[in-house]
Amino acid sequence: MNIVQQPLNHPMEVVEKDIRSFQETIRNHSDYDFTGYSLTSLRRRLTKILLEFDMEMDGLTQRLRADPDFLEIIVKKLTVHTTELFRDPDIWKKIKTELLPAFRNKPSIHIWHPGCSTGQEIYSMMMLLEDLGMLEKTHIYGSDINPDVIATAREGKYKYHFNQSYLENFDRVLLNGSGTSSLKHKKHWKKYFSIDEIRDAIQMKDYLRTKPVYKKLDLVKDPNLFLVKFDLIVCRNVIIYFNYELQNRVFDLFHENLNDNGTLILGVHESILDPFSRHFIKKDPFYLKQA
Ligand SMILES: C[S@@+](CC[C@H](N)C(=O)[O-])C[C@H]1O[C@@H](n2cnc3c(N)ncnc32)[C@H](O)[C@@H]1O
Repeated sequence: MNIVQQPLNHPMEVVEKDIRSFQETIRNHSDYDFTGYSLTSLRRRLTKILLEFDMEMDGLTQRLRADPDFLEIIVKKLTVHTTELFRDPDIWKKIKTELLPAFRNKPSIHIWHPGCSTGQEIYSMMMLLEDLGMLEKTHIYGSDINPDVIATAREGKYKYHFNQSYLENFDRVLLNGSGTSSLKHKKHWKKYFSIDEIRDAIQMKDYLRTKPVYKKLDLVKDPNLFLVKFDLIVCRNVIIYFNYELQNRVFDLFHENLNDNGTLILGVHESILDPFSRHFIKKDPFYLKQA
């Protein structure tokens, strides 16, 4: 029997001209500016958006011009929010053994997480600091372009089943374990969060939840809104979505707002390229500010 293949309902192909017109529409009708984002990532997101809303490019840009609420919805769909507890555990082990102990004698520590998404990176940092007895003297700042993810970070409540495998990272980093979650490990978790398997929830403890200061902050256009300088900036898996020029502007912002000898940590697939790299000394995986 011959099976006739039905064509899939693909949206029209998103070409560079469409992306440019989309970027211009957003820039002209809001405070957002995505002209410095990488075309590859925008093309992927736009294709998904057109499919989800069953629209073509012209219809999308027309509605963006006419409907500010719709524009806000689309902006939130443009950014990727993937995050995990102790994402890339080997990096966190180095933060624990090589970086944080150097702050031990400081009277206070200031740490900023730009692009913090739903907060798992911030909770990972706070758990490490608490484990090292350094949380109390640390000030934690979290920011993101998207207020919805900040609200989730503040709430500190996550799906248990979705995050279950990431708890193995917790064991690897905090308990030097092999990643198998024994009962002993579960006892250790209780210091930081509770697990309700029936309601499928992990709930961070209040003393962690209420510690960070959060602000909506757009790295494209906003200055440092926290009005302090930082010993450590953890900006992981954010600049990967930016083009070279925007990356350099953001590095400049970070350099200006790090204390002397402050440290910047990027994601495993991110790095500072020439010529800006000369403003930092790279001590893998850390970038130390050159005065
Ligand atoms: C992939 S998540 C990274 C989360 C976390 N840092 C990690 O590595 O697990 C990227 C985050 O960057 C945020 N973001 C994207 N563009 C931004 C901008 N212009 N200003 C601030 N945050 C931005 C997104 O909203 C998203 O929450």
